[in-house]
Amino acid sequence: MDNYLEMKDINKTFSGNKVLHHIDFGLKLGEIRALMGENGAGKSTLMKILGGIYPKDKNTGQIFIDGKAVEINSVEDAKKYGIAIVHQEISLVNEMTVYDNLFMGDELSTGSGLFLDDREMIRRAQEIIDELKVNIHVQRKVKSLSIAQQQMVEICRALLFNAKIIVMDEPTSSLTGREIDELFSQLQRLKSAGLGIIYISHRMEEIFRISDSITILRDGRLIGTKPMSGLDHDSVIQMMVGRDLDKYIRHSESLCPGNVCLTVKHLSNQKIHDISFDLRAGEVLGFAGLVGAGRSETARAIFGIDPVQEGEIFIDQKRVSIKNAADAIRSGIGYVPENRKEEGLILDNTVAFNLTISILEQFIHWIHVDKAREHKTIGEYSNKLSIKMSSPDQRIKYLSGGNQQKVVVSKWLATHPRILILDEPTRGIDIGAKTEIYHLIVEMARSGVAVILISSEMEEILSLCSRVVVMYEGKVTAVLDEEETENVTQEEIMWYASGRVKNEAE
Ligand SMILES: Nc1ncnc2c1ncn2[C@@H]1O[C@H](COP(=O)(O)OP(=O)(O)OP(=O)(O)O)[C@@H](O)[C@H]1O
Ligand SMILES: [Mg+2]
Repeated sequence: MDNYLEMKDINKTFSGNKVLHHIDFGLKLGEIRALMGENGAGKSTLMKILGGIYPKDKNTGQIFIDGKAVEINSVEDAKKYGIAIVHQEISLVNEMTVYDNLFMGDELSTGSGLFLDDREMIRRAQEIIDELKVNIHVQRKVKSLSIAQQQMVEICRALLFNAKIIVMDEPTSSLTGREIDELFSQLQRLKSAGLGIIYISHRMEEIFRISDSITILRDGRLIGTKPMSGLDHDSVIQMMVGRDLDKYIRHSESLCPGNVCLTVKHLSNQKIHDISFDLRAGEVLGFAGLVGAGRSETARAIFGIDPVQEGEIFIDQKRVSIKNAADAIRSGIGYVPENRKEEGLILDNTVAFNLTISILEQFIHWIHVDKAREHKTIGEYSNKLSIKMSSPDQRIKYLSGGNQQKVVVSKWLATHPRILILDEPTRGIDIGAKTEIYHLIVEMARSGVAVILISSEMEEILSLCSRVVVMYEGKVTAVLDEEETENVTQEEIMWYASGRVKNEAE
């Protein structure tokens, strides 16, 4: 057998709901394989079976490693066979040091076996980190690292136990362009060192940049595995969704913004400096910039989550004082945060509950959601965004990553605030549902809602926004008006996003 890894006839059923049907998946060492498919297609589940996190259905399927049939019943088993998974959600322990995390479960002891051999663990950990040429001190606590660095630690953990196959589940969703480049050169390095890599992503350009071959799942079924050469974007989309999608549309052209409804003047705090801009009713105002540029921090300051040290906020020309989220909501502002796991969802509750308790109710008790409205909302949005679930009463933690995201976004779209701040609303969302979210955003703006769209996807910004604010290191470097955004290129926005200031030293 040529393939190092061979999964044959894998099936998976969760309480009667079959989510993987007869999947075959093979991988060679030295190969980078993209694994693609719409939200809920079964990508993470297939990889969790490989990683020993979920058992496959009994009496079906087999997994071969290096030609030998193996049983993978636990994470330990998977480790033994050289399989490491870097999950969609990073699983390091924040309060612990990097080396503690690296050796967790496999701590080294001193000769006597009585004590942990911290010195040796630190030495070995630093050795592996240095091998990857990343600049991380292993005695630092994980919480002080950026997401990119945390991911590197996860990769190091895999290398520490001599992994042969590394699975990366949407690794770039929170990385900056430069960090993505760095990750990709690491992956190339690992590939040349003879590892096999399975790479899950919804970002088409990445797939074409990094992978040798691609496996596509749709609705729990294998559509096929093909070499990348000879494929183009359209053919991949076609395989993934089974139909052609809308081509790039300039949605912003169909909007007619009205009066200014939000004015932000000289807003500053520890993270942002002197932010000023206007937002009009019926407008989608883009916030472009790199991860870490201060866009989310601006949103958090406006929404009253982070304190404001200086500056003023006006709604309909009247100065408002927003000290917390409840104040913001009362002033008609809604906010879909970037980090939905922590700020947007109650994981142990049902989809229905999460969709309909708008965060509003946690703050303002007079808003009452009746059952009829609840069902209408669920029906409407689960249809529009094709939220994949077994029923509205399913607990949300059992939905796929992208489908959880759709619930959070829907929840806010359904509350119709006057001003809505969307922070990376389509992150982790598949290409079909993205188009639907764009339509919903435009529909809202047409009905007069003022929308702030923070996005790292330039196409998304240029398609939806008539004006764009660009930020860099906590400051606004450019505000592009309608005429300018019509003619602006992605490269120009990138200049401003990397620090060039508009109208300065031209
Ligand atoms: N623990 C679980 N219990 C019940 N159902 C589950 C569980 N984990 C996943 N599922 C279901 O299995 C299906 C496949 O989910 P999976 O997470 O594998 O999708 P995915 O392809 O990774 O999607 P995404 O791109 O959104 O991450 C979904 O319908 C999901 O709701
Ligand atoms: Mg997933």
